[in-house]
Amino acid sequence: MGISDLHAMQLDSGGNSVSLEKVIGRGMPSAAALPSTEIEQFYQAVSNFVHTFDFKTGDTVVFLADKLLDQRVISAITGLAAAHGIKPIMVMTHTTNMMEIPEDVKPILEKATFVVSTWFCSAWHPYCIALRRDKGQRWVKITFFRNLDLLHSEQARFPTELVGELVRATAARFPRGKDIVLKFTDTRGSDLTIPLTARMVDKNLSTNRWKGEVLATSPGAYVHYLPTHGPNLYEPGPMLDDLNTIVKTSGTIYPQWAVGFEPFSERIGVRFENNAIVEVSGQSPDAAILREMLIGGVLIELGCGFNPKWPRHLIYPAGSNSPGSLHFGIDLLKPADYIKKKMPLWEEPPVHVDLCTFDTTVDAGENRLITAGFLDALKDKAVVDMAARYGEPVDLLENWPD
Ligand SMILES: [Fe+2]
Repeated sequence: MGISDLHAMQLDSGGNSVSLEKVIGRGMPSAAALPSTEIEQFYQAVSNFVHTFDFKTGDTVVFLADKLLDQRVISAITGLAAAHGIKPIMVMTHTTNMMEIPEDVKPILEKATFVVSTWFCSAWHPYCIALRRDKGQRWVKITFFRNLDLLHSEQARFPTELVGELVRATAARFPRGKDIVLKFTDTRGSDLTIPLTARMVDKNLSTNRWKGEVLATSPGAYVHYLPTHGPNLYEPGPMLDDLNTIVKTSGTIYPQWAVGFEPFSERIGVRFENNAIVEVSGQSPDAAILREMLIGGVLIELGCGFNPKWPRHLIYPAGSNSPGSLHFGIDLLKPADYIKKKMPLWEEPPVHVDLCTFDTTVDAGENRLITAGFLDALKDKAVVDMAARYGEPVDLLENWPD
């Protein structure tokens, strides 16, 4: 029954009757927060913010920014740096879609000890990875902090260390010391498998993100702020010794949605062979567009959300970051005109597509990571105990905003 159906229904009351529609919500607490509560919540977010950007006296900070980034975000971060006597060097480009670090920028970047970046190549480009690995640079990617007003969001004030604990609890579920298969299934009939060697699992889980490090504190750190995007269940960069290795990803997923689209109205099948997309089934216009874009594309990232207060069904700009929701990151054979038209200012390049699911079951070998889109680690005792320090665990961990 919808709210419009309630309009015709009556509540008999003391000889009168009132429309049920008129009393909707009267059994619920007021949604309005007191100003004092809002201030308290804001400073929780500010504390997370200050701790994540763990500047140390003597740091050399380089800021890789773009002109569509809220200037107030830059000021907030340079303000934190100024409190440590640090004067960041700004490198401003016209777009986040930087596929590599320009040669002119490299001498500047190489002097950094701390990098704040909006640039796309930051996560995966071997040059950027080497700067962290070999020089110990600490990096914060701010894809999810492009507007200062986000400090007022629920995901900004969610306890940062609890995101880390959820990551660690999920990492602990991976079988170690043997080859395993990552398996993705759902009620639509999806059945995708990614065979992982013990070494691939070890290498992936040894990254600072899978260790649950969420602050840019230790040498080589790479963290997202806001802390929403967790480490990836599958990602060639940290997993493979040789990036030319063909991973035998195979099977079909039926994504529910993709960034740049409305939720799919039909069952669209995306079939993989040897990590590349070989078939897209479906009759709808969306299926036709995806077929045109995706055939020949390869899986380069299988991301999972880890912040329970990220709006569950907000998938822009790069997939939902709610725990247990997945995004299958595909690199296309060529840039897609569809993306250029729909999202000309997208933070990711038009050669990338994120396919999203909210109800996938994920098994790593004999162990369960996610059940029907619910991250199993949300129920772990260590996670619940830590959540209890901050508030009501069920509210913090399982009460997801839409
Ligand atoms: Fe991602």
